[in-house]
Amino acid sequence: MTEARSAWMAIVAQALAAEFEARVPGQPAPKADELVVETPPDPAMGDLGFPMFAMAKVLRAGPAQIAKALEARVAAIPEASALGQAKAVGPYLNVSLARAPEIARVLAAVRSPGWGQGTSLAGKRVMVEFSSPNTNKPLHLGHLRNNVLGESVSRILAAEGAEVRKVNHINDRGIHICKSMLAYMKKGEGRTPEDEGLKSDHFVGKYYVLFGELKAEAKDIEAEAQELLVQWEAGETAVRELWKRMNEWAVSGIKKTYARTGKGFDLYDYESDTYELGRRFVHEGLAKGIFFKAEDGSVQVDLEDVGLDKKVLLRKDGTSIYITQDIGTAIERHESWPHDKLIYVVASEQQYHFKVLFEILKRLGFEWARDLHHLSYGLVNLPSGRMKTREGTVVDADDLIDELSRLAVAEIEAKGREDSVGDLAGVGEKIALGALHYYLLQTAPAKDMLYDPEASLSFNGDTGPYIQYMGARASSIIRKANKGEGTHVNGTPRPAKLESDADWALVRRVAAFPGAIEAAAAKVDSSIVANYLHDLAQDFSTWYRDNPVLANPDADLAASRLELVIAVRATFAAAARLTCIPFLDAM
Ligand code: ARG
Repeated sequence: MTEARSAWMAIVAQALAAEFEARVPGQPAPKADELVVETPPDPAMGDLGFPMFAMAKVLRAGPAQIAKALEARVAAIPEASALGQAKAVGPYLNVSLARAPEIARVLAAVRSPGWGQGTSLAGKRVMVEFSSPNTNKPLHLGHLRNNVLGESVSRILAAEGAEVRKVNHINDRGIHICKSMLAYMKKGEGRTPEDEGLKSDHFVGKYYVLFGELKAEAKDIEAEAQELLVQWEAGETAVRELWKRMNEWAVSGIKKTYARTGKGFDLYDYESDTYELGRRFVHEGLAKGIFFKAEDGSVQVDLEDVGLDKKVLLRKDGTSIYITQDIGTAIERHESWPHDKLIYVVASEQQYHFKVLFEILKRLGFEWARDLHHLSYGLVNLPSGRMKTREGTVVDADDLIDELSRLAVAEIEAKGREDSVGDLAGVGEKIALGALHYYLLQTAPAKDMLYDPEASLSFNGDTGPYIQYMGARASSIIRKANKGEGTHVNGTPRPAKLESDADWALVRRVAAFPGAIEAAAAKVDSSIVANYLHDLAQDFSTWYRDNPVLANPDADLAASRLELVIAVRATFAAAARLTCIPFLDAM
């Protein structure tokens, strides 16, 4: 739609300039790209709507009167008639696009490489940090929300031309991992994940839980864990060796979950490598008077003037803390890969942390600190009573996906569709991921949410599987057509055949895809693409129920509609990729 839209913006601007000249000579009229363009609520009213309210004051005329005058002026512009028709509708100048050329343009655009992708971020570099788990336990449901937000936003930014670097900052050091290690030292007896038949990150998580249980028996165990941390800091060989071993188990298990759910990273940072980076900058800030030394000897920053508190940056013993590490990492990242934006996908609990971090970096004089962005997301809860896990509180990511896959397979079996899906387990897992990812993306990130596994898996309604099902319907029509079923074999596709309101409405939905990606990238909001997919699914569903494709007695219409189905399928597949919803050809 973009091209026809900008052509019309130019025409309306030209008509407006003439109207300004006639009514208020010498007053500058709005330029084409300054015009507001809306979509009329009812397609019968037109495809584009130009509101005239803003012009009323300058032109000293009512908006409806202006719209009428513009209608006449547009009619006098020779190029306009080939592009469509403008009509005053109350205070709006509405435009009905010339359908056939627009249909031809859209169908050709879908077939060209990179359909939907834009250039609004061409030449920009964006780093997206997401997931960033701790290595004492496996991923949980909160990480699944984090991961799909990070992965999807990264894909959307890349689709707009940005060079994206996906970074995972693994927290592999600190007291939490010492706790898993200590429990293993006490009760592990040298066993391995293989010995126990456990996925290796679950194995590590088991010892973290065990640590909690050991507290009842051994009161000093917290102090022992602290002692272990001191030994780790001192680089004691045996401690370091066990630490390495357990981290490898944790990280390799976590990577399996990424692979299973279609997530990937360009770079893994490990906190054990980065945690000392920040100290130098804190010392520099202290020397410059940006920070101060408190009475107890700790180094602090006073952010009270911007409504944040005083914050410790180095403990009194000189050791660094969570934020020290983030200061250093941010600086190091920008040095090694200068970027236009860095997005941190991190839970909303850490909002204060990131406000403080960004403020400190600004005070240290880094211009780029203005382009740091915290993509904050809320908690994910399950309906009570469901999926209690080993730890009793958090929902394990792998267990949840296993459960969803089981439910999806049961649904396929209940519908008796085992034969048409082929690989039952594989398709079940893809439906599970479609259900999960769509549900998680659809809610605005900042809000806490309730994840309802059964509702998310429904094949009807506002769900991932419904979208996947509609995509599969499109594929199935194409499959039949390729087998020679249908009247299209004797027909020729012609854009003009798709000028009916029903076909046109679907063409317009397809045409809106690039705009949805561009808006999602500009707002760093994947839900725009997720919602677009749902609209596409609904429009396609209504359309194909009422409008025969292959069985159409008009061979040219059948061939033309088949082209439209091919465009719809390509759009489903591309939008699904951006939202991490596996596309299915059959289900
Ligand atoms: N590992 C941290 C946690 O699990 C999240 C790290 C977020 N990223 C950052 N750069 N601080 O809470």
